[in-house]
Amino acid sequence: MCGIVAYLGAKDAYPILIKGLHRLEYRGYDSAGIALLDKKLSVFKTKGKVSELEKFVSGKSLGGHAGIAHTRWATHGEPNTINAHPHFSQNKKLAIIHNGIIENYASLKEALVERSYHFDSDTDTEVLINLIEDIQNNEKVGLEEAVRIALNQVTGAYAIAILSQDNPDMLIVARKGSPMVIGVGENEFFVASDATPIVEYTKKVIYMEEENVAVLRLGCEVDLKTIKNQKKTPYIEALEMDLSQLEKEGYDHFMLKEIFEQPRSIKDSMRGRIQASRGMVSLGGIVDYEQKLIHARRIIIIACGTSWHAGLVGEYLLEDLARISVEVEYASEFRYRNPILDENDVVIAISQSGETADTLAAIQLAKEKGATILGVCNVVGSSIARLTDAGSYTHAGPEIGVASTKAFTAQVTVLTLLALRMARLKGTIPTSRWMQLAHELEGIPDKVEKALNNDQLIKIISQEFKNATNFLYLGRGYNFPVALEGALKLKEISYIHAEGYPAAEMKHGPIALIDKNMPVVFIAPSNGIYDKVVSNIQEVKARNGHVIAVVTEGDEVIKEMVDYAIEIPKTDEIFTPLLASIPLQKLAYHIAILRGCNVDQPRNLAKSVTVE
Ligand code: AGP
Repeated sequence: MCGIVAYLGAKDAYPILIKGLHRLEYRGYDSAGIALLDKKLSVFKTKGKVSELEKFVSGKSLGGHAGIAHTRWATHGEPNTINAHPHFSQNKKLAIIHNGIIENYASLKEALVERSYHFDSDTDTEVLINLIEDIQNNEKVGLEEAVRIALNQVTGAYAIAILSQDNPDMLIVARKGSPMVIGVGENEFFVASDATPIVEYTKKVIYMEEENVAVLRLGCEVDLKTIKNQKKTPYIEALEMDLSQLEKEGYDHFMLKEIFEQPRSIKDSMRGRIQASRGMVSLGGIVDYEQKLIHARRIIIIACGTSWHAGLVGEYLLEDLARISVEVEYASEFRYRNPILDENDVVIAISQSGETADTLAAIQLAKEKGATILGVCNVVGSSIARLTDAGSYTHAGPEIGVASTKAFTAQVTVLTLLALRMARLKGTIPTSRWMQLAHELEGIPDKVEKALNNDQLIKIISQEFKNATNFLYLGRGYNFPVALEGALKLKEISYIHAEGYPAAEMKHGPIALIDKNMPVVFIAPSNGIYDKVVSNIQEVKARNGHVIAVVTEGDEVIKEMVDYAIEIPKTDEIFTPLLASIPLQKLAYHIAILRGCNVDQPRNLAKSVTVE
């Protein structure tokens, strides 16, 4: 969603800001803009991509050592140039960029209109900057105080950066509900909604806390306060990110790079957490909460999208191995339905970005009800990672493609480790089986490597089905969530309608859709319910459907029955989601490419959904 980048220092701000905007493109946006302070404040903005903005400013005067820049994902007002950020205040002495939503903007705007303010845009952001100007003028206070007073009047979410023509050596930033990172350089500051625009300049960062305002002044330490004017000590952390992780490194797209990174990313998710030969599996981040987990009445997993699918795999794992009752909830539903939970429940929030608004709100609700909250996040220092009582990072590294791939397999890996740990502590499976599973898990990255080795076949399948208008994905047991995830991948990046279903549910409705135009993807590795899935395949073939099946290597039975069989290495049933999801990611990728789609930034989608 919207992205913020800002700079204050001795360097030219423009190149830093424009590069930063490119780094943030992966978040999804529909317009972009920049404000530079060079004696006077200038704002440049356009609808469309950052490259359009670059064309628009070419030949213009772009001096200044302070600036703010933004990519906007429309919420209030259509995606056009006027609504793009930055926004001036009425006297054009202040400029603001803003992520989030000011919920009471309408009433604030009405009051400002009565005081003769006019508005160029339809945005809530222009209301906020005029409110700040109005407070400065009427209450005769400095900018810093005016910002604090204004933020006490607004409800909703914000991450803001403000430049002031009258205060050229100062940048004010604040956050509530939307992430904000400050990079601290040598007498210079970088600000961004995540660390990706900052990493090449400094590794010293401050992750801002809720309702904090930071005043950045050249030659001074970061001046951090709450919006209630309480002084805070900034906590400077070392950034765990490499620039190479943000480059495509020879791949055509970030999504493809991330698909191929999975043998490494899964290994990183397990690093230091498993040693099968010693019978050891542990997750350091949640050690103090193991007793709580063992005695939990139930575990409730909350998440959205792909993370929710990982949660479903987690449900199978935790119930199967550790015999703990698990419910998996969409965070967006959970937060609005007065759920029954208390201090006997453990909630696990799963999120790649750690910034998903619905998941954050669901955590807040669960906290109020007294539950223990654990997090499984990828982005270090993210809001969810900070809000939860404890948790385990997935360590997949930055995921830039909007369609989640390596984050999914990393989440499943962490949940697998958790289930194995709980099973060990509770003694719910025999030691021999536990040891066999731990050894098998250690070998999964090598098997993922093999599961990636099918380019030719997947390109042929993609060619044949690239013009299909619908796809059905079917799987059972551990691979039902994989069917959901496969369908989500395809619809996100190729815009083909796809549905995931438990294979046995097909007869209860979707079978009506099957004809010669319907490709059906079966996730059918050899497992306890293999025969049942074979029957489901026969039902589709009997109705002239086309079948693409993901099967265990050497499976000649299904191969004979289907149009295409994609093999994955043999593994224990509980690890099949880690292997079966790989060809489905590749299938979605190649179909999308053949359809000419923008796989890394699909239309209408944002990498982290920071608004409801
Ligand atoms: C995944 O491909 C999607 N882009 C989306 O469903 C995503 O998983 C969802 O928005 C949740 O995001 P999170 O993991 O960052 O919370």
